[in-house]
Amino acid sequence: MKPPRVIGHRGACAHAPENTLAAFRLAAEMCGWAELDVDLLADGTVVVCHDRTLERTTTGSGRVEEATWDDVAGLDAGGWFDPRFAGEPLARLSDVIDLANEVGLSINVELKSPLGGAEIARRLVAATAAQLRRLDPGCDVIVSSFNHLMLPLMAAEGEWPLACLFEAGQLGEDWRTRAELAGARILHPCLPDVTAGLVTEMRAAGYRVNVWTVNDPEDARALARMGVDGIITNDPEAIRAAIAQV
Ligand code: G3P
Ligand code: MG
Repeated sequence: MKPPRVIGHRGACAHAPENTLAAFRLAAEMCGWAELDVDLLADGTVVVCHDRTLERTTTGSGRVEEATWDDVAGLDAGGWFDPRFAGEPLARLSDVIDLANEVGLSINVELKSPLGGAEIARRLVAATAAQLRRLDPGCDVIVSSFNHLMLPLMAAEGEWPLACLFEAGQLGEDWRTRAELAGARILHPCLPDVTAGLVTEMRAAGYRVNVWTVNDPEDARALARMGVDGIITNDPEAIRAAIAQV
């Protein structure tokens, strides 16, 4: 059986500061795929950042949506993780696209759900789509979101593979209806909700199944045996090794 694709969560975030170019370079080397979180700055720049605020992963403070790129470009987004990465900047989606084109990295872009209303959501989608159009055809892409209403907006911008993300415990029996309404052909359930029966059912219904976030090699082997298509992990190196011979 072909092993599942491995996708580095926030890059290879066990090895380098999450959502930075350093983490994406490592993911490129380890598995060729990276997941990243995108949000909109006040000036319309698409920034790669998981949290709503800057404190946890940068030397800055305050809300991401209120900052401009000029405000955050000089922040250190690496030193909190390890002094070796001090000075690593925040990344824009445009920086990630440049890197992807340079090293042949495929990307899973996770659209955050903006707090500022539908107009901000539309701007995030349009600005993300503008960047994705720059991606070399040799690099694959998946666009995912917990907010499934974002996905039809993305479909209106172009033909990217779309994935419905489900929080732990939020995968209802109506997953198929949700995916159809969102126009998604890929499902990203959370590890605790995944069973062999569910994977069989989803794949039989024609969906690809990528599971997040899987850091235990035993879990990864079990998922590989279930026939999942992809595994999103903080440690692509370890998980690739674990599933190499399932
Ligand atoms: O896309 C999988 C995973 O990244 C979703 O959760 O909170 O880490 O963005 P989160
Ligand atoms: Mg994410």
